[in-house]
Amino acid sequence: MRIGIDFGTSYSAAAARVDGRLELIRFDGAPQFRTAVFFPEQIPNPEDFQLTPALAAQVESLLRASRQQRAQASETQLRRDAVRVVRRQWMEEQARAESTVAERFQQALFGEAAVEAYLDEGGGHLIESPKSMLGYRLDAPVRKVIVNIAAHILEHMRLAATRQLGVPVRGAVIGRPVAFRSSMGAAGGTQALELLREAAGMAGFDEVSFLEEPAAAAMHYHLQLPARQRTLIVDIGGGTTDLAWAELGGGEAPRIHRSWGLARGGSDLDIGLNLHSFMPHFGKDATRVPAHHFVEAASVHILPKQREFRQQDYRRIDEPFGARLRALQEPGATTRLNRLAERIKIELGEAAQGRASLDFIEKGLAVDVDRDGFLQGAGDFLGRLRQLLVQAREDIGEAPAGIFLTGGSSRSPHLRACVQDSFPEVPLVRGDASLGVVSGLAEAAAG
Ligand SMILES: Nc1ncnc2c1ncn2[C@@H]1O[C@H](COP(=O)(O)OP(=O)(O)OP(=O)(O)O)[C@@H](O)[C@H]1O
Ligand SMILES: [Mg+2]
Repeated sequence: MRIGIDFGTSYSAAAARVDGRLELIRFDGAPQFRTAVFFPEQIPNPEDFQLTPALAAQVESLLRASRQQRAQASETQLRRDAVRVVRRQWMEEQARAESTVAERFQQALFGEAAVEAYLDEGGGHLIESPKSMLGYRLDAPVRKVIVNIAAHILEHMRLAATRQLGVPVRGAVIGRPVAFRSSMGAAGGTQALELLREAAGMAGFDEVSFLEEPAAAAMHYHLQLPARQRTLIVDIGGGTTDLAWAELGGGEAPRIHRSWGLARGGSDLDIGLNLHSFMPHFGKDATRVPAHHFVEAASVHILPKQREFRQQDYRRIDEPFGARLRALQEPGATTRLNRLAERIKIELGEAAQGRASLDFIEKGLAVDVDRDGFLQGAGDFLGRLRQLLVQAREDIGEAPAGIFLTGGSSRSPHLRACVQDSFPEVPLVRGDASLGVVSGLAEAAAG
């Protein structure tokens, strides 16, 4: 049995075609879950080696012994060697701890439950949106963690599908963005597919293929169109925005002519709001803290950036900013702040004003955000989205008969207005914002 898998930056879903009808796989009763995993314990990272008091004591005792044995060697040389020995022993202990990784994975929680457990427990390890990191330059240990996590999520989906469908699920058509989020240009996309393939193999899939997400959404819309028409598919997700130009409906096979991708999505609106409206309350533009620290704090999905932010020393920063930054370094605080940014972004679709209470940073601290503030924070993303639409319009050279909108961010009236502005004469068709892609992937998996 083959299923369609939408491994989304923000939400993941799976579906299959069974006896000619679409069956959505349920996760705790819902047709999708937050792409997040929580492990109760910290995952060791060999790069985290630091001379703790205990390790420093080991160095001292080695030094004492070696001073007697190697009287000619310099103190610097002896110290360097002692640190090297202690570091090697530490690495070996870490490697032994790695063997228990499998056990840790057994205790994993997924979806919203993962985020809640992380915030409640104030410890452990939360990985949200691992898809955002697949195209990043990763050192070997982080690469291993990311592949393991993707494998774990895919296995969670495979097992849920196997249980629900009552047959072993061994194959999948997995959605992929036209352009992955990447720190290495096109090479990031190649790496992302490699990692996903590796993870799918570990998750027990024998046969895997990939389909561009907007092409999948097109296959889904195709089935609803009685007459043939040329349609632009616009999928605005959490991490990426994907377009496809397709000829659909009318009983013939769908034809995808071309696609475009922007490696930005709704999560960039959260980061924009966070930087523009929240971070000034943490001293952005008001202290000597370099601007990139605030970007690192807001980039909750990029583990190396989060680690860098946590390692900064804010003891000498003017108050109240120093204390607020130190509170933001506490486990879970950046995640909480990002959650508030996302919530306000969604509220500002309907309301003129939103308020975030930052009690977890400082008692009584609250931030008001209005639409203007939101739009300023969203400026970069909105500009790029406009450019993408103008490019598509030029490349197509004609007005589509319709624009089919999908993706969670297409719920935003600001983003819909942006699409409509670029194609004023074209009717917008709002599809299921969450399930358009996975439904099409299920069609492809059945075909
Ligand atoms: N009402 C809303 N207004 C604005 N944004 C919303 C709304 N509801 C959800 N979103 C945003 O939609 C995004 C998630 O969309 P979706 O589930 O399509 O993403 P995804 O498929 O996980 O990501 P991708 O396809 O980029 O990998 C999130 O950024 C979320 O904040
Ligand atoms: Mg998506």
